[in-house]
Amino acid sequence: MKSKLFSQDDVRNLAWFFKRYLSPHGWQLVLIFLLIVVQGVVYQQFLVLTEEGLRVIFDKGSVAELVRICAITLGIFLFRALGSYLIPVNSAKIANRAIFELRRDMTEHLVRVKQSYFDATPAGEIILRLVNQAQALGGFVGQGTVNAMRDLITILVVSGYLVYKSAFMFAFALIVIPLIAIAINVTSQKIKQIQSKNEAATGDYLTSIDEMAFGMRTIKLSSQESSEINRLNSSAYSLRGLAIRLQKANAIMLPIIDLASAMFFILVIGVGGYIALQGAGNLDGAGIISFLLGLVILFDPAKNLGSFFVRIQSNLILLKSVRTILYLEAEDSSTKTDLDVSTPVTMSFDHVNFAYSDGTQVIHDVTLNIAGGKTTAIVGATGSGKSTILALIGRLYNHTSGTIMANGIAIQDLTLASLRSAINIVAQDIVIFNKSIYDNIAYAKPDATKDEILAAADKAQILDVLQSRGDAPVGPKGAHLSGGQKQRIAIARAFLKDTPILILDEATSALDPVTEALINDAFFAENSTQTRIVVTHKLASITRADMIYVVDAGRVVEQGTHADLLGRGGLYAAMFHTQSESNTSQET
Ligand SMILES: Nc1ncnc2c1ncn2[C@@H]1O[C@H](COP(=O)(O)OP(=O)(O)O)[C@@H](O)[C@H]1O
Ligand SMILES: [Mg+2]
Repeated sequence: MKSKLFSQDDVRNLAWFFKRYLSPHGWQLVLIFLLIVVQGVVYQQFLVLTEEGLRVIFDKGSVAELVRICAITLGIFLFRALGSYLIPVNSAKIANRAIFELRRDMTEHLVRVKQSYFDATPAGEIILRLVNQAQALGGFVGQGTVNAMRDLITILVVSGYLVYKSAFMFAFALIVIPLIAIAINVTSQKIKQIQSKNEAATGDYLTSIDEMAFGMRTIKLSSQESSEINRLNSSAYSLRGLAIRLQKANAIMLPIIDLASAMFFILVIGVGGYIALQGAGNLDGAGIISFLLGLVILFDPAKNLGSFFVRIQSNLILLKSVRTILYLEAEDSSTKTDLDVSTPVTMSFDHVNFAYSDGTQVIHDVTLNIAGGKTTAIVGATGSGKSTILALIGRLYNHTSGTIMANGIAIQDLTLASLRSAINIVAQDIVIFNKSIYDNIAYAKPDATKDEILAAADKAQILDVLQSRGDAPVGPKGAHLSGGQKQRIAIARAFLKDTPILILDEATSALDPVTEALINDAFFAENSTQTRIVVTHKLASITRADMIYVVDAGRVVEQGTHADLLGRGGLYAAMFHTQSESNTSQET
């Protein structure tokens, strides 16, 4: 034997699943179990009645006797029919409740998982676990297991009866059972391997589909259709191969059980019949016929149970995969001090270093002060580390060394919830829903009044679009809007929400200079206590900032007001002069 059918991990996972999702509904399981036992007993009684009926026929008994047997048979099958309804209904309830609860647990955990996981994980893998795997697993546990239990009990009850009728003939089963056991073992190992590959391939496929749908504009405009087709088809092709291999491995069980059943059947009819012909043994013709009927009743359950054992292996893979989500390291949620936002929030970096999980250091010895209630700008070339600095402020990642403080308290000593609820960020990854512009803005503050929302839209220069589009939804991920319109919705949300800290990370990159200037005026017109951090490539929009930091390759290389920096004639001054010469920004 190569390896065990169930690893220790498998057993732990099964125990966890049972305890968390099934045992709370124990009474329902007990009900199903009782119904299943009843169904098994009905089969056993059916065999008894058949034998009696046959004997009435063979021995020329009374018609009344025959009618009585038929009536009882009908009665017990009516009882069985009730079970045939109640069992699937209740198991569907158990299954779908388990699916729901599993999805709920995964979602609740996922949103607390560290950002680095999302940086490294394609969407398809998450979709796979929440959609496909949770569904398959719940279905298997709810329906698959209940059916298997029914099959098992049918087998136990019916074969128990057959042993009672003739232990000698039933002993022939001992010849075939080991055959089936070996087949299950061999097949299981195979299935486990194929299923792992199959899950990985499905995840890849889902990710590709997500990327294709999201990038369709670019795909069309740059004639990338054929490479997209190839990419998706090759994913689909490997799925096809794996699915066939999986079914093949599953299907190996069926002929083996068929043959084993036939052998059993042949032994009973041959040897049993021979003994009856000799007049030996305790079975007459009716006895042998009902024994054979019992065997026939066993055939299907035996076949199903065999496949079930094999399918367990696939589902152990799913269980493991789903459970990995719940094991992902979550963000720090310990209770500490809350950030006090009664005064404007000042943030400071003191000799801060940071490297992403791949190990390359992107922030080097950064020291800066973001004064409360003031506007601080961070400028620098693409990839110089501006967004990373902003991510550190909200503790999306933990900095490696140095100190980051908010109002004098190290940010890792603050509750994440209080720190983040003080922050509002407008960045490149704007979340737009397929609803009206009004609803999209209201999303930032669900209890806002209509006036507040319209005022925010006005300051963000999106009010006219909001009014002309009315209730029309903006398309999936805002597909009916221009990049600049999406940015203005995000800016309107920022005006509406009014958090102690506002971070604008290239928030106006897609706006034309006129609109941008209007929005800027609206920002600076507000006599606000809000602490603002603005990252932009358009230096003309931050000349009014109270403090400007210039970063280059993860280091702060210059700092001061616009006038200071121009006077220094350094990197900032050079960038500013280049931009004012060629101001060609266009709204995209
Ligand atoms: N999630 C990430 N994992 C690893 N490296 C990253 C990640 N995000 C950004 N980087 C790298 O960190 C550097 C700074 O990126 P970023 O802060 O986004 O620059 P900026 O916002 O100034 O354009 C870049 O070299 C970028 O490739
Ligand atoms: Mg950036």
